[in-house]
Amino acid sequence: MTDRVALAFSGGLDTTVCVPLLEEEYGYDDVIGVTVDVGQPDEEFVEAEATAEALDLDHYIVDARAEFSELCLDAVRANATYQGYPLGTALARPVIAEKILSVAQEQGCTALAHGCTGKGNDQLRFEAVWRASDMDVIAPVRELGLTREWEMEYAAERDLPVEGGNEGTWSIDTNLWSRSVEGGDLEHPEHVPGTEIYEWTENPTAETAEVEIGFDSGYPVTLDGESMEPVELIETLNDLAGQYGVGRTDLMEDRMLGLKVRENYEHPAATTLLAAHEGLEQLVLTQEERQFLTQVDQQWAQKAYEGLIDAPLVDALEGFIDVTNQRVTGSVTVRFEGGQARVVGRESEYAAYSASAASFDTASVGDIEQADATGVAKYHGFQSRLANAASEASQTDAKIVGDETDSTAEHAVSNEADDTAAE
Ligand code: ARG
Repeated sequence: MTDRVALAFSGGLDTTVCVPLLEEEYGYDDVIGVTVDVGQPDEEFVEAEATAEALDLDHYIVDARAEFSELCLDAVRANATYQGYPLGTALARPVIAEKILSVAQEQGCTALAHGCTGKGNDQLRFEAVWRASDMDVIAPVRELGLTREWEMEYAAERDLPVEGGNEGTWSIDTNLWSRSVEGGDLEHPEHVPGTEIYEWTENPTAETAEVEIGFDSGYPVTLDGESMEPVELIETLNDLAGQYGVGRTDLMEDRMLGLKVRENYEHPAATTLLAAHEGLEQLVLTQEERQFLTQVDQQWAQKAYEGLIDAPLVDALEGFIDVTNQRVTGSVTVRFEGGQARVVGRESEYAAYSASAASFDTASVGDIEQADATGVAKYHGFQSRLANAASEASQTDAKIVGDETDSTAEHAVSNEADDTAAE
């Protein structure tokens, strides 16, 4: 039996050098490359195919866009962002890892390999899925301590097909939900990037546009009244909102290992859908639900960032998210303006809102008169008033003691005496 290994393959430098290394350094007879489609641009598949062919690599492409898009919408229901980043790369990794595992099992592989370095998050996300299987896990770049420079030389020596793409400028990761750009000159936090790093977003102008997004139980399902499947909805909004410069993020991101990285992201659809979803929640959820859900959502986003979307904790959190989102049904008008996606209107049959109650034009709320609030107003801040008065009084006492003796040492003694007396 030959030993086969399935490699997560993009056709980039890292995964390209992994192919001969898996044979020569790790002794595998056979390497297969698997590229999973989570909405990368077409050129990436063309490049991966061409590189695979030049390497004589058995290459599989698996379409996971529908599945991935559903996970993106789960993230909308959870209002999920990590330090301002809507988690595109993070959410995609478990989906990619699962698909590669399936191909590996079908093709009789005994091992799985990725081209991640030992510095980033993706190694952890891939392996969290793979290590639940009985496959061996190999990370050549990390294990052999490879650098980009070494890889370039190795590729040149072996005449490996690595030209083309954006190698050398930035490291870019694109899928349906976000486009991430890192490395190169962006590694200097003070460097102000030019517009050449953006592909999905135009610089905002004075022009504006509005869209109406319909939600059913927290899932966005219509755009301007038209039903749309998740993939189409996300692609359409990326295109539309991107024209108005919506969804750019430049951040110093704390990675799981503790290293910081300077990341630039584009995510027009994510920004729009997250804003719209939250706008509808504001209307339908009660104050205490909204206060509590920030904790739930933050934990969901944290697990998503870690690539642990299948953690039991996530199921438990989704219990809460499912219940609150049952009422997140209705529609939201979002305006693209000045590079922002701003909620400018919302409606729902579940609104926890009464226009007449909140109105300036009516005196009472049902049988509750305005004057009924007087008692509440009298009690409001009661404990703070007591506490503040007490500390003011004790400061005045201390001043009197201090004035009498005019000595810090004696002041301390007199305080001690007080304490003893109190005991
Ligand atoms: N820092 C992000 C994450 O860990 C995105 C990384 C994307 N990778 C890239 N080569 N640009 O989720």
